[in-house]
Amino acid sequence: MYDFDKEIDRRGSCSVKYDSLKEVFGREDLLPMWVADMDFRTAPGVLKAVRDAADLGVFGYGFRSADSVDSFIAWVESRYSWSVKREWVSSAPGIVAALPLAINALTSAGDKILIQTPVYPPFHAIVKENGRTLVKSPLINTETGWEIDWADFESRLADGVKMFILCSSHNPLGRIWSHEELKRMGELCCKYGTVIFSDEIHADLSLYGNRHTVMASISEEIAQNTITAMAPSKTFNVAGMLNSVIVSSSERLLASYNGELKRLHLDLGNLFGHITMAAAYREGGEWLEHLKIYLEKNIDFAHDFLAREVPGVTFLKPQSSFLLWLDFRKSGYTHEEVRNRLLDISKLGLNDGLAFGRDGEGFFRMNIGTNRARVEEGLKRLKKAF
Ligand SMILES: Cc1ncc(COP(=O)(O)O)c(C=O)c1O
Repeated sequence: MYDFDKEIDRRGSCSVKYDSLKEVFGREDLLPMWVADMDFRTAPGVLKAVRDAADLGVFGYGFRSADSVDSFIAWVESRYSWSVKREWVSSAPGIVAALPLAINALTSAGDKILIQTPVYPPFHAIVKENGRTLVKSPLINTETGWEIDWADFESRLADGVKMFILCSSHNPLGRIWSHEELKRMGELCCKYGTVIFSDEIHADLSLYGNRHTVMASISEEIAQNTITAMAPSKTFNVAGMLNSVIVSSSERLLASYNGELKRLHLDLGNLFGHITMAAAYREGGEWLEHLKIYLEKNIDFAHDFLAREVPGVTFLKPQSSFLLWLDFRKSGYTHEEVRNRLLDISKLGLNDGLAFGRDGEGFFRMNIGTNRARVEEGLKRLKKAF
């Protein structure tokens, strides 16, 4: 019904993943399985909305209509039982852009901001670029999965952290935080007066029957202390539309955030971003269910392949999204050697684990949001070197 197997040649389409290999890896002869967008065409309803808008042929200023906001509200109500009011909703030209806006709106120079490593590289960079102090609470790698070090987490908060950037579900670990874990993190942040920036961009991609919980839906107290960031970008493969949704029921937090957004005149947004968002949330549900099944099969395939053919490289199946956190520590090679072998022998473009923090040593991130043939090709290339 939906052809996720279709081979799509994205080269020459202004794609970061395909067209900037030389800048990022220093060479072009790689199979790109790195930056987190997928190789699939988006949902048919979204494509139709874009085509209709393109046919109009006039691309003047756009704005996010109430109708488009309502499509988001209906989506999160039905998926997460999270009731959002229109006046709680704001925007950003991407969640990466929302982060410095929120940081500048809600913290001051030198303030401490907490992240849980290993985590999405821009979390590290943005805190530092904006003159704040980066505080890390490393997650613990256990046999069964990555866990929060609660004593460490609380002691960091107690040390005067002003903001906590939560990655939920977690990139690169693919971990969906349970209701209990979120509640505990949320309550601790309230206790120590730490605002939560909850990046839930991967929320819609929960797999294998796992359920995502919205941090701000847990209690009124937590909601009043949280800014939530969501987007259709990962879910519907429309990241290039640069359109995300920022939500807070706290008048104070939202007014501060909006003040920063307006000061930089970033509130109008991108015309195609608004069009894709409305169509995605209104009509994309069924496509998404099929996509998730395809992703699960890709993950299962990769898991079986590595277990059978490349026992020195392992991963824990992600509970969400399309990113594999590959563990090379039993491959017999150092991190540096793994990096070189991936490039020189496998000819694979993966994300270097060290970009996610020091605890990413020995790991590389592989994006399997692509057709099965390419996943297989990537794994065969991996096998050549390990
Ligand atoms: C946790 C997380 N936040 C944000 C982003 C990017 O967000 P945006 O494209 O909306 O800037 C990504 C993309 O990989 C991500 O994994």
